[in-house]
Amino acid sequence: MSDSTAVDTRNDLLEVEDLRVTFGSPGLRGRGRVLHAVDGVDLRVGRGRTLGLVGESGSGKSTLGRAVLRLVPIRGGRVRVDGTDVTALRGRALREMRRTMQMVFQDPYSSLDPSSVIGESIAEPLREQERLTPRDARARVAELLDVVGLPASHADRYPAEFSGGQRQRVAIARAVALNPSLVVCDEAVSALDVSTQNQVINLLEDLRGRFGLSYLFIAHDLAVVRHIAHEVAVMYLGHVVESGPTDRVYDSPAHPYTQALLSAIPASHPCDAGTGKRMLLTGDLPDPANPPEGCAFVTRCPFAMDVCREVAPAVTPVEGGGDVACHLQTTGPALAGRPLGAGGVGGVDAAPRVAP
Ligand SMILES: Nc1ncnc2c1ncn2[C@@H]1O[C@H](COP(=O)(O)OP(=O)(O)O)[C@@H](O)[C@H]1O
Ligand code: SF4
Ligand SMILES: [Mg+2]
Repeated sequence: MSDSTAVDTRNDLLEVEDLRVTFGSPGLRGRGRVLHAVDGVDLRVGRGRTLGLVGESGSGKSTLGRAVLRLVPIRGGRVRVDGTDVTALRGRALREMRRTMQMVFQDPYSSLDPSSVIGESIAEPLREQERLTPRDARARVAELLDVVGLPASHADRYPAEFSGGQRQRVAIARAVALNPSLVVCDEAVSALDVSTQNQVINLLEDLRGRFGLSYLFIAHDLAVVRHIAHEVAVMYLGHVVESGPTDRVYDSPAHPYTQALLSAIPASHPCDAGTGKRMLLTGDLPDPANPPEGCAFVTRCPFAMDVCREVAPAVTPVEGGGDVACHLQTTGPALAGRPLGAGGVGGVDAAPRVAP
């Protein structure tokens, strides 16, 4: 998406501050494993805007999305929606808040009951929250199917009777049924072929314009994200390592990890960062229960310096918009050097391994 207008932070719908989510427990005498899935994340999504959240599998994207909706326990930090701190909401207030935030998953089967006709699945939240009569619910379902480009007669079909793209349209209809302000799309188009991806993205764009929705759009595929996101945040091992306007991040990535991810987009793709250099991302994501000291990316970074092994880099502004957490921003590239031995990044013209 080419619109990279400066964000008016007073108009943010979602504000996430120093968010932390852990799994596991320290156990007796601290000998258990604590996995830091989200480790001090800050991000904002403007009203009617789309923030793309990218990063390798296991970097914490889904956990972050689920924490925003309070679907996993929050260990620390703040989530504000429309100015309200939702971190500590309980009971009825939490249910009310959840109505304003919905999630669309990669696999619509997780939100659609295979044994119910889709009209039932779409009507379920309406009946629960708005206490509609069966007749009114049916009319509303027909309206929602129309909104997502499906005929009303499809209400009587089962999920298995739909194609992948149609099922995702049904899941979107269900998500927008209660007029949410934020929709978290977690790999929502990742399982679809390219032309169906484009159709579903066009639908999401259409709905954003019609209903003023904001999206947190999670995807491991950077090419997809460029088409829909106004801003992008790049996640690595529980941290946001770079964020900013989509065009700036894609055209001038500041973090070595972002550069490596962008190198994974085939050169012929129009979204190629165009640096002419391919960066090979080797090695695996470190164990989030045992992260490296200093910079999280140090075990795979070709520019790692001594300081990177000891001190976590501060977040600093980037020319052209956004922020990056990398010592190169403060010490300058002249001090960078010494490719790491094992697990380093190097090489030219080889596609990096970036797992979905
Ligand atoms: N319910 C859970 N219990 C324990 N560990 C989890 C749970 N959910 C996610 N994780 C771990 O948290 C880390 C981040 O996972 P996830 O948020 O799914 O990443 P992503 O969506 O970027 O692939 C991974 O190491 C994953 O194994
Ligand atoms: S240069 Fe240092 S701080 Fe920057 S990404 Fe590499 S290891 Fe991290
Ligand atoms: Mg995920």
